[in-house]
Amino acid sequence: MAGRPEPGADGRHPRYNDNAWPSISDRIISAIYHVMTALPPKPDALRSFETASGLVSELSWLVSPPAVCTKVTELAHSQRTAARDFEKVINRDPNLTARLLKLANSSYFGYAARVDTVARAVTVIGLRELKHLVLAVSAVKTFSKIDNRIVNVNTFWAHSIYCAVIAQELAKLCHVLHPERLFVAGLLHDVGSLLLYHRVPEVSRQLLLMAEGDEEALHARELEELGFSHADLGGLLMELWNFPEQLQQIVRFHHQPSLVDESRPEACIVHFANILANTSGLGGFCEAPADSARVDPVVWDALPIDEGDVQAGPILEQARARYLEMVQVFSLCGS
Ligand SMILES: [Fe+2]
Ligand SMILES: [Fe+2]
Repeated sequence: MAGRPEPGADGRHPRYNDNAWPSISDRIISAIYHVMTALPPKPDALRSFETASGLVSELSWLVSPPAVCTKVTELAHSQRTAARDFEKVINRDPNLTARLLKLANSSYFGYAARVDTVARAVTVIGLRELKHLVLAVSAVKTFSKIDNRIVNVNTFWAHSIYCAVIAQELAKLCHVLHPERLFVAGLLHDVGSLLLYHRVPEVSRQLLLMAEGDEEALHARELEELGFSHADLGGLLMELWNFPEQLQQIVRFHHQPSLVDESRPEACIVHFANILANTSGLGGFCEAPADSARVDPVVWDALPIDEGDVQAGPILEQARARYLEMVQVFSLCGS
């Protein structure tokens, strides 16, 4: 029986020797490989924009923040804003008010006293954090309306919510200031994908198939095939919504935390939380959860924890309990 061919002098397998005429079987294998992995040619839809910002501006009418968010951001920046000004704006949207109060009363905040008005929520939670929550809740509602035929929208948001609660728990474990920022970043880390699913569904479907449930692989493929990724799109959407610069950076670099300096610990937290969500079997980003995924080694330099702290500690248990509660809060988003 013929043995396995030995590598050539240059260390490469003989199959890849440029001078060798490939055998019939090699050519068949190569043809099958190309059929299996080839993307369809770039559709006209994709040729119309060549950059992430081109796509976001083309669809800005679809993903623009609602008027309530613009007003809330204005109020949060004003020195003279009173709780009742804020309440007046929020109360115009009963659905937003209901979701916000449900969130304020969840174990996410852990307040014993009941928060039953927006004015009370401002007092208890604080204007800065409440502004983040209004933006996050409104963004989930707006982005949930983006039509897509690629992924189940419930699966998408389950992944986002699970990533958000793990990110918040990790932030607490790492003693990061204002862990709620990480909840918001985790919640919106993949929103850029929704634009791709909507605008280039066939390309997105092919990319998802090739990634086989591995979101890191999906990100790499997007960069290769499109020149930008869902993370780039997400960062731009956060900019459009006037989210703080740091949140934009965390979302933009959640697959490449080593490329960001100032917000590296936060980007590392969302990167790690995303991988934990994807390998949990509970909150994978698509129907086929990843078996494993490689954590960027920069995480272990940037954060005062190691993987054992997470696997052995109560974080994943706590995240699971909070996840179930948050699913209830955000289930109102589609209504
Ligand atoms: Fe992602
Ligand atoms: Fe993700």
